[in-house]
Amino acid sequence: MFVVGGSASQLLSKELAKSLRAKLAKVEIKRFPDDECYVRIDEDLDDQEVFLVQTSWPDRNIVELFLLQDAIKEFDVDSLTTVVPYFGYARQDKQFKPGEPISARAIARLIQMNTDEFITVDVHAPSVTDWFEGKSAKNVVAYPEIGKYLKGKGIELILSPDEGRADNAKRVADVVNCEADFLVKERLDGETVKMTPKRLDAKDKKVAIVDDIISTGGTIVKAAEQLRKQGAAKIYAVCTHGVFAGNAIPKLEAVCDDICTTDTIENPKTCMSVAPQIARIARD
Ligand code: R5P
Repeated sequence: MFVVGGSASQLLSKELAKSLRAKLAKVEIKRFPDDECYVRIDEDLDDQEVFLVQTSWPDRNIVELFLLQDAIKEFDVDSLTTVVPYFGYARQDKQFKPGEPISARAIARLIQMNTDEFITVDVHAPSVTDWFEGKSAKNVVAYPEIGKYLKGKGIELILSPDEGRADNAKRVADVVNCEADFLVKERLDGETVKMTPKRLDAKDKKVAIVDDIISTGGTIVKAAEQLRKQGAAKIYAVCTHGVFAGNAIPKLEAVCDDICTTDTIENPKTCMSVAPQIARIARD
């Protein structure tokens, strides 16, 4: 069994190889002077079960993913499972206005053409797996790892910044063994969110805000401001996918005591791995 790691998912590929007791493949990845991508797999993958791990964000990593799939399929592999830890474009999972693409479906259709199986993690739109017609497509949940990270830190409240992710916050709270609550959020545009004030049982408590994605940080900042006003003692911001667009990290550091993400996107705040969860579902 081999794990092939794309350049966006080097840490996670190593962890996954360990969890699966697989060999980490030697891969050469470079860019030509005109920025076109070159990949070469320096292993014999004939008759092997292969896991390709590559986050499909930002766009340049999508092209690298397609080239790695193609290189792997040039061998006579036993099976290829494409693992896309952070599935970019999942937030455009429908036409919001006429004339728009269903971007998540467009990417899913291209990935499924050259794989036998597909695994992703905490995908924003669960409908993504439906677009892998006739192929096994699984969505791994990160909450057990997030719960493990927060357990033992004395967290007394887990907060979801919107109602849509309240179930996830509850699952994390069950692992931590504490209360869960949620806020009511309205997105005004890509950078601005409005949060309805709500009385939270946060006074003098250590609170963790848990979300699937932190992008601009606007959502977490608004939630943290409410918690501060209501006297929270310590605020943790935890998410699966740390996109951290623009100056999100300093914005968050100004209002949160601790920021932590999984390794679906490798970033300066990565402090836990989803490899055990991917390995568990891969063995099912
Ligand atoms: C939205 O529905 C997601 O769950 C996140 O809350 C959102 O993507 C976070 O974005 P930002 O950090 O830009 O507020």
